[in-house]
Amino acid sequence: MTDSIEYSLFLSEAKQLFPYTQSLRRDFHIHPELGFHEVRTGGIVAKELEALGLEVTKGIGKTGVVGLLEGAKPGPTLLIRFDMDALPIVEETGAEYASQNSGVMHACGHDGHTAIGLTVAKLLHAHRNELAGTVKFVFQPAEEGTCGEEVGGAEMMIRDGVLENPKPDFALSMHLWNEHPLGWVNVAAGPVMAGVEQFKVRVTGRGGHAAIPNLAVDPIVASSQIITALQSITSRNVGPLEAAVVSVTMVHGGSAFNVIPTDVELEGTIRTFDPAVREKVVMRFNEIAKSVGEAMGCKVEVEVKKLSPAMINNEKVAAHVQETARRVLPDSNHNTDSFVTMGGEDMAFMLEKIPGCYFFVGSNNSARGLDYGHHHPKFDFDEEALWRAAGLMASAAAEFLK
Ligand code: NI
Repeated sequence: MTDSIEYSLFLSEAKQLFPYTQSLRRDFHIHPELGFHEVRTGGIVAKELEALGLEVTKGIGKTGVVGLLEGAKPGPTLLIRFDMDALPIVEETGAEYASQNSGVMHACGHDGHTAIGLTVAKLLHAHRNELAGTVKFVFQPAEEGTCGEEVGGAEMMIRDGVLENPKPDFALSMHLWNEHPLGWVNVAAGPVMAGVEQFKVRVTGRGGHAAIPNLAVDPIVASSQIITALQSITSRNVGPLEAAVVSVTMVHGGSAFNVIPTDVELEGTIRTFDPAVREKVVMRFNEIAKSVGEAMGCKVEVEVKKLSPAMINNEKVAAHVQETARRVLPDSNHNTDSFVTMGGEDMAFMLEKIPGCYFFVGSNNSARGLDYGHHHPKFDFDEEALWRAAGLMASAAAEFLK
């Protein structure tokens, strides 16, 4: 059997399984669950994997599920990760499979990811006699944030040992991508998604009467100076060809028109790709917020929390997946190097430890009105992307376990 036949085989089998994938996706879409509450979703995942005879472990990272598929021959261990959580959004798609869990919606496509993951498990299970090695299927909770816990889903699963016994040699993951049309595929080496920090700044002055400002220390004026001064980090501290974002997105303070408040809270996010740039931005952020606030007579407390590192694809692994993508989806628009997003993803924690590749599969279809962006209340994607993604992921996995 030549390589090209084997590749098209996975894709055609994924296409045959499309009714299975679609019905799973729609079921998950009707019954979305927030991060660390994916009990129903995780239960279906475990049941489907057990039905294939995989060794299944539940409760890794609270609601996470891990399934092990052993190939016929010994070889490396490949981790493939899919996220399962939904968002606190009221769905406005009007789709027949719209959310029945009011206020919760699969508005990022993780319903599709979970369905793709179960399809890949079915595809690889059918070919287990040809596989040399082990596939570790990881169904992760809480990608969208920490959901009230100390850490998010990927870190929680790592704490619970998802990267041990067996330790993966490689890791793969993907996202359906509604900013690009069906038929677009992006597999790139190097950084593809930004590292994400969440910051909180508390500026404390001395409250007082608005008409006697000289007897108060005004945290609103101090906060304004801090926000303005923070803009110089990206324009004056980060190199012109390096990438960074500093966005103040929340300003809370004050309760009456004639009262100078005691304190103001600022919140926002920092995004970077390069760890050295990150260090510099975080250092300058602290220095500027504190010294500017203190110069205005206020006390300033700064908290910068690392939500996820930058997603950095291993060059060799990415080259392998690129080659596979070209063979499996020869009719696609292959974007290999120019796509990066300042969006973040906690799969980056796993790729910090295991060489791997995170790729994007275009899923919008403007002709059918399926082109709202991720996290929009009308977000929906073209389901034809499901079998394309499953066929590509299964082929890429088989490539690592030849
Ligand atoms: Ni997402």
